[in-house]
Amino acid sequence: MEEPIERAARDLINSNYAIALTGAGMSTESGIPDFRGPSGIWTKDPEAERRAYQTYHRFLANPKEYWEEKLSGPSLFGDLTKVEPNPGHHALAELEKMGILKCVITQNIDNLHQRAGTENVLDYHGNAFKLRCIDCNARFDLEEYDLQGLREEGRLPPHCRKCGGVIKGDVVHFREPIPSDVAHQSLEEAWRCDLMLICGTSAVVYPFAELPRVARQRKVETERKTGAGIYAVERVPAVTIIELNAEPTPLTQEGVSDYLIQGKTGEILPGIVEEVKRLRR
Ligand code: APR
Ligand code: ZN
Repeated sequence: MEEPIERAARDLINSNYAIALTGAGMSTESGIPDFRGPSGIWTKDPEAERRAYQTYHRFLANPKEYWEEKLSGPSLFGDLTKVEPNPGHHALAELEKMGILKCVITQNIDNLHQRAGTENVLDYHGNAFKLRCIDCNARFDLEEYDLQGLREEGRLPPHCRKCGGVIKGDVVHFREPIPSDVAHQSLEEAWRCDLMLICGTSAVVYPFAELPRVARQRKVETERKTGAGIYAVERVPAVTIIELNAEPTPLTQEGVSDYLIQGKTGEILPGIVEEVKRLRR
């Protein structure tokens, strides 16, 4: 029976367009807590999750107050400038360099895929190091605005240099629409891929959790030999979906993924990359 790591390496080598979908489980080995794992942020403080569901409406009601609060309080994740990509992030960057992985769609806002060298990253829930105009979707790096200066001069919220709209952090809050450009590109990737690696996500938050289901429903026609010179045309799944996670998820239980490799992303992914190199020799 083929080892799961070897099976995943072979599936990746045989793919034409592999993508990865990632969640907080990618970054726990970098020291950033996840949300729903045993020591997750929401697991330990359900009240914080309830409050998080109000953030977007509070922003819409009073952007100035949203910014005052954001600039005065600590981040949920601590100081993200002090964490480093882990071997899992580097492994995905290496698969992109090998020409196998074409895109990473991440729910994480920590910018660690980019810092590990992955070039094609879609920040599905935004990026903690960026600002975004809610009118025209323009993104700006944090440093492009002197937020503390605006706060001291009583000139919050910041306004978009392109259209004058109100600017918020790029991070997508609960109940906030996914920015249309990222939503559209992510759906395109789910329609285009023939292999989907799903790494470190509980797959309970929508619409992100819809992406594997979009991929699962895709079928392609193939011919199967039924007898002497006779072929039957049948419709088979177009995408191989592989989960890498510490625990089974609804994708595992509902058979959306073809198989789960249970364990740590920071160990499994480098193992898969080593196996790809061995098989390619
Ligand atoms: N290796 C593999 N899996 C891991 C690891 C690890 N090192 N650490 C944690 N996990 C698993 C957890 O067991 C859990 O199943 O990763 C999953 C993380 O799930 P969540 O904490 O729910 O994080 P995520 O799926 O990314 O959450 C989605 O919810 O709160 C919102 O916007 C937030 O983007 C976030 C979204
Ligand atoms: Zn704008």
